[in-house]
Amino acid sequence: MHEPILSIRGLTKTYTNGPRALDSVDLDIKPGEIFALLGPNGAGKTTLIGAVCGLVRPTGGTITAFGQDLSKDWRKARARIGLVPQELATDMFETVWRAVTYSRGLFGKASDPVMIEHILRSLSLWDKRDAQIRALSGGMKRRVLIAKALAHEPELLFLDEPTAGVDVELRKDMWQQIAALKERGVTIILTTHYIEEAEEMADRVGIIQAGRIRMVDEKRAMMERLGTTEAVIDLAAPLAALPEALAGFALELSQGGTRLTYRGGNGEGKGRAEVAQLAQALTRAGIGFTSLDIHDSSLEDIFVGLLGEKQGEAA
Ligand SMILES: Nc1ncnc2c1ncn2[C@@H]1O[C@H](COP(=O)(O)OP(=O)(O)OP(=O)(O)O)[C@@H](O)[C@H]1O
Ligand SMILES: [Mg+2]
Repeated sequence: MHEPILSIRGLTKTYTNGPRALDSVDLDIKPGEIFALLGPNGAGKTTLIGAVCGLVRPTGGTITAFGQDLSKDWRKARARIGLVPQELATDMFETVWRAVTYSRGLFGKASDPVMIEHILRSLSLWDKRDAQIRALSGGMKRRVLIAKALAHEPELLFLDEPTAGVDVELRKDMWQQIAALKERGVTIILTTHYIEEAEEMADRVGIIQAGRIRMVDEKRAMMERLGTTEAVIDLAAPLAALPEALAGFALELSQGGTRLTYRGGNGEGKGRAEVAQLAQALTRAGIGFTSLDIHDSSLEDIFVGLLGEKQGEAA
């Protein structure tokens, strides 16, 4: 078992005259993983990242990165952390080349034009190296933010909504870039509103709401634990009631007895296997059906369900 690369304990942030943006957050990040932090607007994602990157002063709690207490020696640890911020606030009048080079120098690293060239090429920014940042499109500006964050070769990289406002093609491209960074051993924490992004990329997922971590789990385990399979079966002829032969299945009869809905599973493949058995049972019982649609719940369904539940509890 590896030591966590980042360890957060009891992290609290109350903004002056503002809300409690973080409420006693505990979180451990494993070296080399991609961790996706999901949560609605205002949940505290950017505040959490800001606290680790020295942009937000915590009200309480501790942050340990690379085994060092950040409140004691943050400069040294900070030099090993990269941040792609959510907001596109960057030196608009600088050229791409100069902005990225400057970012490296900020952390006291010796200049390395070969490395900068490599980063710009890998983000398809090489042709734009002499362009002023303000002249670039939104998606290209976001790539510049990534290049800036990578310029000092961080071991731990935060991406705060890296693909917000980015078209589908560019988003897929960024997923590849992020996967390549992981290959190189970079630990990545990203926030996103695109749940498909977390589903596609993350090893683990954390759900944050109202400043509290609601759940942290391996993505697969989360889907297994909470994921369900739903099957909608349209019958050839209406049934008056659920027949005895189908008693073992979690079924509902609707649409005047012409539709069977199965909901169950709670595990990868388990629901689908049960639906296959159900189809056989229907055939054996001589119940004809005209269609059968299967849907596995996604991380998005889980997320919406969980937040709805918590909000319901609070009300
Ligand atoms: N500088 C600030 N001063 C006062 N309140 C703030 C400040 N920054 C954030 N907040 C508040 O703290 C809470 C958490 O904000 P934060 O930006 O961390 O959320 P978020 O999860 O990143 O949201 P989003 O998905 O919209 O980016 C919100 O209620 C926000 O209004
Ligand atoms: Mg944010």
